Amino acid sequence: MKIAVNTGGGDAPGLNAVIRAVTLAGLRRGWQIVGLRNGYRSLLDPATPLVTLDRKAVRGITMQGGTILGTANRGNPFEMPVQRPDGTWTTEDQSDRLVARFREEGIDALIAIGGDGSMKIAGRLIEKGIPVVGVPKTIDNDLPETDFTLGFDTAVSIATDAIDRIQTTAESHERVMVVEVMGRYAGWIALHAGLSASADAILIPEIPFDLESVAAKVRENEANGRHHSIIVVAEGAVERGGKVMVQGKAVGQAEQLGGIGAYVASRLGTLTGKETRHLVLGHLQRGGSPSTFDRLISLKCGAEAVRMVEEGAFNQLVILKGQETRRVPIPQIAGGMKKVPLDGDAICTARELGVSLGDG
Ligand code: F6P
Repeated sequence: MKIAVNTGGGDAPGLNAVIRAVTLAGLRRGWQIVGLRNGYRSLLDPATPLVTLDRKAVRGITMQGGTILGTANRGNPFEMPVQRPDGTWTTEDQSDRLVARFREEGIDALIAIGGDGSMKIAGRLIEKGIPVVGVPKTIDNDLPETDFTLGFDTAVSIATDAIDRIQTTAESHERVMVVEVMGRYAGWIALHAGLSASADAILIPEIPFDLESVAAKVRENEANGRHHSIIVVAEGAVERGGKVMVQGKAVGQAEQLGGIGAYVASRLGTLTGKETRHLVLGHLQRGGSPSTFDRLISLKCGAEAVRMVEEGAFNQLVILKGQETRRVPIPQIAGGMKKVPLDGDAICTARELGVSLGDG
């Protein structure tokens, strides 16, 4: 057997642990394991060879963030960005070339580690006859069916730690501090980190917010003798009647979000008369060593993916129910989104604690 593994979309802590588990479990079975560089580049660009994954290549990488294979979020083979002679960009479907190269290389199956975008691509490759097993990755935790995606736990810890650190400055200066965290379509990071770090308000994409209601929380704090407030806002949060704030968009790439933290801070300053500051945690949330939890689920998902290849259980995604791996068909999740449930425990807890969710 010759198995290829790749990582697509934004990097996330835990990717290397999956690569290690896939490699070691595959080698134990006498298989050859190869890595694809930067998403699918090794199957599209003749100058980018396959990466041989042997014991040495994966030594000591469980604790490393990022991905030793590199990744790409402008690497969709069905919409590959290509530059025209006049310098402008367009996209091209290069999937047939990819499938041909996959077969020429004698690869039997692909283990694709990725989020919603990567699973959509996997779904289309399956239709073209490529046997795929998926592994769920994204710090946003927004893939359907799985309780957790790898990288989420680490990102939440980083965000929680950052918000903890903001508290002292907020208190010393009696300021309103607005912290923008990642979360394009779902507010998992904002909600979990905001709750854990005792934020006063948490604004998530699932609940369009009213800034008057957030300002009321700041005023309530003042009345209670607390002269500072911490507001956590997901990058994809929207004001009632407003739109998601976008920084820009490159050809063949998802929109780059951002700006909501600055907007909320500026408006709250006007509404409350308090000094406000904002900061954007950005890619810090994806960096560094994976948490113990992320290492463990990544290793489990990698080992399960290899068992699935062995059984011929293709075109399925490894998912986690609690900490146990399970499987679902990839077409069942492609295009779906796991939102924060509005009647879930975390939202109910936030309301019980008097945290503003911007909808009061
Ligand atoms: O999907 C993961 C994620 O980290 C999102 O939260 C964020 O919007 C996006 O990736 C950022 O992507 P990029 O690295 O291209 O800026």
